[in-house]
Amino acid sequence: MRRGAWIDRRAALVGVGASLALARSDVASAGCASDVSLGALAQAAGVTFGCSIGVDALSDPAYTALVLHHARILTSDLAFKLPFINPQRGRFDFQRADQLVAFADTNRIPLRAHTLFWDLANPQWVTRLTARERAYEMDRIVDTVVGRYRGRIHSWDVVNEPFWPGFGEPGGFRKGAWYDAMGESYVMRAFKRAALADPAARLVLNCDMSERDDALGHGIRSSILRLVERMQDAGCRLDAVGLQGHLDPSLPFEPGAFTAFLARLAERKVDVYITELDVLDTGLPRDVATRDAAVAGQYATFLDAVLKVPAVKIVATWQLADAKSWYRSEWYRSVTPTLPPGWRSRPLPFDDRLQAKPAYRAMTDAFCSAAAMRRR
Ligand code: XIL
Repeated sequence: MRRGAWIDRRAALVGVGASLALARSDVASAGCASDVSLGALAQAAGVTFGCSIGVDALSDPAYTALVLHHARILTSDLAFKLPFINPQRGRFDFQRADQLVAFADTNRIPLRAHTLFWDLANPQWVTRLTARERAYEMDRIVDTVVGRYRGRIHSWDVVNEPFWPGFGEPGGFRKGAWYDAMGESYVMRAFKRAALADPAARLVLNCDMSERDDALGHGIRSSILRLVERMQDAGCRLDAVGLQGHLDPSLPFEPGAFTAFLARLAERKVDVYITELDVLDTGLPRDVATRDAAVAGQYATFLDAVLKVPAVKIVATWQLADAKSWYRSEWYRSVTPTLPPGWRSRPLPFDDRLQAKPAYRAMTDAFCSAAAMRRR
């Protein structure tokens, strides 16, 4: 399935509403200033705030300073993905991943490694193997890659985006090289092997689109809950469910229902990480002030729903400033023919000049409100 396909599918516009639970005085008493670290505020609410980072960004000192001021955890962007780390059968290229791990070590910041098995984006060589060869290569990838960074990774996104109900597979699974070879047992196999290769790393099932309050989103929520239960029944260690949170204002979002879904995950004794938060702004008005306000409203509504659930331990954005967003990339433009010409997306809390935007204020307010709520 082409990545752009699900993006194109997003159609109906819903209103954007920022509903902050607590009064301004609560926010003020929590001490929010305009340059205050999102990481510090989130910590007061019992949450670790972070963002993803690409290797290219490491040579941009102003940007890394911004990241290190706000983030208390990092996620790799491309560096650990199979097409980069294992570009040919049996050949591994650790250059990018090594750089990120070194950066994280030097700055004493935990690193989330993203991702081992993602059936949407396999390297070509995997698709040419027999089912038996794929199982062999899966084990080799886990042993080689997870083993290499043993003890240095906070958490592994062991499997990414396992569900796509449109395929009509039992359990809602996405078809792809790993699923086609092993069925749903590919997930268990990968997790069990990863637990052996790095017992200290938390193991995460990273899922997309669960926030959509439509048939597809509901299907994905059911698939997640079912798989979590099956993994636990099979004695498979699963530490957290990652929910990406690529918010799309053109899709319905129902805060109460989403909070209830998170609470059901919490009942299964797994942590919840919000792993890739940002806001797709292409359906919003072009006017920057209006657009920024609408994007901020999305952050506010979403975080308000999410921070009600104590099992949510991490909130991470996908990059931190607009200029570094994947929605600005040539790749994204190439898979999204509907993108208006010259459109410059503004999905993140900081702008091209690394200045805070209304989305930053929405985040500080949300973290401060959550901290105040927890103090009660
Ligand atoms: C994106 C990267 O940011 C882009 O640079 C890349 O070209 C495509 O993938 N969900 C995920 C991430 O799990 O891996 C994706 O990252 C964004 C959507």
